[in-house]
Amino acid sequence: MAQDSTRAFPRVRSGVPGFDEMVDGGFHKGTVNTITGSSGTGKTVFASQFIYSGTLVGEKGMIITPSESSAVLKREMASSFGWDFSDLERKGLLHIVDVTDPVIRLQKSIDVDPTDFLINFRKLIERKLQDEKPARLFIDDLMAFFSAVESPFKSRSLADDLFGVIRNSGITATITIGTAFGMNHILEYGADSATILNRDRIGNVMIRSLYIMKMRGSRIANTIRILDISDDGMSVSTLSPYP
Ligand SMILES: Nc1ncnc2c1ncn2[C@@H]1O[C@H](COP(=O)(O)OP(=O)(O)OP(=O)(O)O)[C@@H](O)[C@H]1O
Ligand SMILES: [Mg+2]
Repeated sequence: MAQDSTRAFPRVRSGVPGFDEMVDGGFHKGTVNTITGSSGTGKTVFASQFIYSGTLVGEKGMIITPSESSAVLKREMASSFGWDFSDLERKGLLHIVDVTDPVIRLQKSIDVDPTDFLINFRKLIERKLQDEKPARLFIDDLMAFFSAVESPFKSRSLADDLFGVIRNSGITATITIGTAFGMNHILEYGADSATILNRDRIGNVMIRSLYIMKMRGSRIANTIRILDISDDGMSVSTLSPYP
């Protein structure tokens, strides 16, 4: 039975050791998967590792960086883990779309209506996915854009439109979501899976952790697990942060 469902709905490995076991084998292919957490919990590292690990098996990745410029992201991943994103771009295994790039003309300005901005953003993604045909997509901190939309109903329908474009393309996406604006639930509702990253003080130590909030059509682990970040990247431990 499980094997039949895997064939009907193939899995894409996350590239984060320990994670796939929690979701019965990985993300479903062609789905939108959110990674939520407050600042510094590891969202960008998780999603970058998803992209990087794909390139190691020849799967082309695309990264859309609305909040950080691509140069900053490349520098962080090189200094943290030695991942050379510029080299992957040269080899055609990675395409980074820098929304802060003025030539894209997707001006992030308070003068631009946030709804118009998100509609243009969706069109940009649709075009880029058609042109580049990546297997994996990562959009960094989408909440930055949605926080300016005043109505939750409108946000939800804009998110559904954007997620629909991604699903129709057959690409597997991870989307990171910051919690600063408290509107993360709107995007999590629309996603196929939602993973939550946390950071807690246990005694004198700050410990990162992770749990799966949902994955449609899949069995999931119901435990909170410790998340490690080292020079080798991120991994999920079998241990829980709490007694
Ligand atoms: N080689 C390493 N070993 C241990 N920790 C590291 C290493 N490289 C980076 N880190 C840590 O990983 C943390 C997680 O960073 P990340 O950028 O993924 O968080 P984030 O959730 O995206 O934060 P933000 O909301 O600010 O974008 C950083 O604070 C950094 O200290
Ligand atoms: Mg980040």
